[in-house]
Amino acid sequence: MDLTTQLGQLRDEGLGAIQEATGLKQLNEIRVHFLGKKGPITAALRGMKEINPEERPRVGKFANEVRDALQRAIATKQDELETAQMAAKLEKETLDVTLPGTPVKTGTAHVLQQIIDEIEELFLGMGYQIINGPEVEEEHYNFEMMNLPKDHPARDMQDTFYITKDILMRTQTSPVQARTLEKHDFNQGPLKMISPGKVYRRDTDDATHSHQFHQIEGLVVDRHITMADLKGTLQLLARKMFGADRDIRMRPSYFPFTEPSAEVDVSCFKCDGKGCAVCKQTGWIEVLGAGMVHPNVLSMAGVNPEEYGGFAFGLGPDRFAMLKYGVDDIRNFYLNDERFLKQFAWKG
Ligand code: PHE
Repeated sequence: MDLTTQLGQLRDEGLGAIQEATGLKQLNEIRVHFLGKKGPITAALRGMKEINPEERPRVGKFANEVRDALQRAIATKQDELETAQMAAKLEKETLDVTLPGTPVKTGTAHVLQQIIDEIEELFLGMGYQIINGPEVEEEHYNFEMMNLPKDHPARDMQDTFYITKDILMRTQTSPVQARTLEKHDFNQGPLKMISPGKVYRRDTDDATHSHQFHQIEGLVVDRHITMADLKGTLQLLARKMFGADRDIRMRPSYFPFTEPSAEVDVSCFKCDGKGCAVCKQTGWIEVLGAGMVHPNVLSMAGVNPEEYGGFAFGLGPDRFAMLKYGVDDIRNFYLNDERFLKQFAWKG
């Protein structure tokens, strides 16, 4: 049999085998069998030297065509098999996305966090910054810088946990006032900030006291700030938190770091001021402390009280939440009883 006929037969045989291949492994075996180094085509080409020289180019060309034809057929078949394999895999792995899933348990923001978020939102909208201060605080900032020198009788109301003689768990968020005032550059504009966070007192825990609770401090310092600015701001706060019809009133009080100082009441949201159990028949509920920043606080923090002045206030989110939602025991906020916390889940 001459070489051309032999090659032609090999081609037909190969193409037939490729056509019938049913798997990639089998296809590869066919490739090795026909086109491999030990395969018949390679062997046939080795036989070229026996052909007479005039014939060689024609036979050589034909041999190349046979090899190309087999290679192309293998490539095409390989594509086909791979596509079929992928299709079969997809078919097998089909998911029924309409099956009901396993519900994921989602948490919600803690009710106190919800109150803090609402208040932050209100003050951010009025251009205040939110500033955090340390809970483990220097006695110097917690008391001295807030105009409570050593042996000041007002310190008695705020005994706390001492880490060392000079380091304590802060009793109020007010020290953040001093820390922020010290750093503020009034050439950049007025200082308007709130500072939410935890505070600590040496209190025996009962329905209305907890050794750890929350406060939000507010501070505005600029030129020409008056008590009217304070009242307007707190009015807004009361209405946002307790309803659009609320009024506030300010009663004279005492804080070492404000002068004058005021205790701020909001008109009772339960009875609208007529008198009920919530407001103890007075029509008013005490919600926070406030006042005009004491000149000593300003000057100790390096701010000239002749030029600058402002107001400050401090409120308790725990107390706000208790009033707003009729919670009668502050300890509920800290027990992490889901049955309690879930009641406030509607807001997230
Ligand atoms: N720091 C005060 C307290 O804990 C509250 C307060 C803050 C009062 C700012 C006036 C101004 O009782």
